[in-house]
Amino acid sequence: MSHTDRNAPVGVFDSGVGGLTVAREIMRQIPEERIVYFGDTARLPYGSKSKDTVLRYSRQIVRFLRTQEVKAIVIACNTASAYALETVASESDIPVIGVINAGARAAVHATKNGRIGVIGTVATISTGIYTEVIRTMRPGIEVFGKACPLFVPLVEEGLFHDSVTDEVASRYLSVLKEKYIDTLVLGCTHYPLLRSTMRRLMGENVTLVNPAYETALELKDLLKEKEMNRDPAAEMQGEQYQFFVSDLADQFTNFATAILPKEVKETRKINIEEY
Ligand code: DGL
Repeated sequence: MSHTDRNAPVGVFDSGVGGLTVAREIMRQIPEERIVYFGDTARLPYGSKSKDTVLRYSRQIVRFLRTQEVKAIVIACNTASAYALETVASESDIPVIGVINAGARAAVHATKNGRIGVIGTVATISTGIYTEVIRTMRPGIEVFGKACPLFVPLVEEGLFHDSVTDEVASRYLSVLKEKYIDTLVLGCTHYPLLRSTMRRLMGENVTLVNPAYETALELKDLLKEKEMNRDPAAEMQGEQYQFFVSDLADQFTNFATAILPKEVKETRKINIEEY
């Protein structure tokens, strides 16, 4: 059975390029692992869609990734983690993890004054999932959520350092600055790409939490515990990292090459509605 093959790849997916921030962390922390990445660029953004729709999309992507014989799946998207992780994981016989538990855990460790801000898509913030998970980990912590719907299109347009991004970010973040938070969770996998803008606006005293780091660690521990970590000496059989999207493959390739440690040679476009 393919899923018990410890040398099989890990499936990673997001609505677009945001999950590359998680893939990048996996590449850094577990460089021997193979990755099959899927970005649902035809149907992005997820953050303004309903739970039913995001669940349907997530199930299709899981079915596609299974055709690539992945041994585990990382939902590298907060919105899909909030809306679909529980269901998709319960339907799966291979491990499926999301990014929210990891992000919440890192924030709980980081805060000193017990006041945490969380930014994310409208969907993620409206579920209140970060508040719930953080308070389960440590009751009494104050969590302030703020939806930042314009960040995803700004990132997808590559406007990382731009006056428009500065203006939008300063409007969103001013609400959180007033709450005297000492920790800010970047609760959307696109947002770490705007990190320098946020750092500047929030100041040096606020810890910025990127859940990608903890997610990669969680994956590493999980694979080890289940004895599913790849044997570094095993033959690679094809490209170590493979990329698939539902639209605009060339644009994705350029983007991925800009943010990943290794050049991305090819991205394949598939029709996700077939799965
Ligand atoms: N990157 C995704 C997240 O972490 C979603 C972005 C979107 O498609 O709205 O929530």
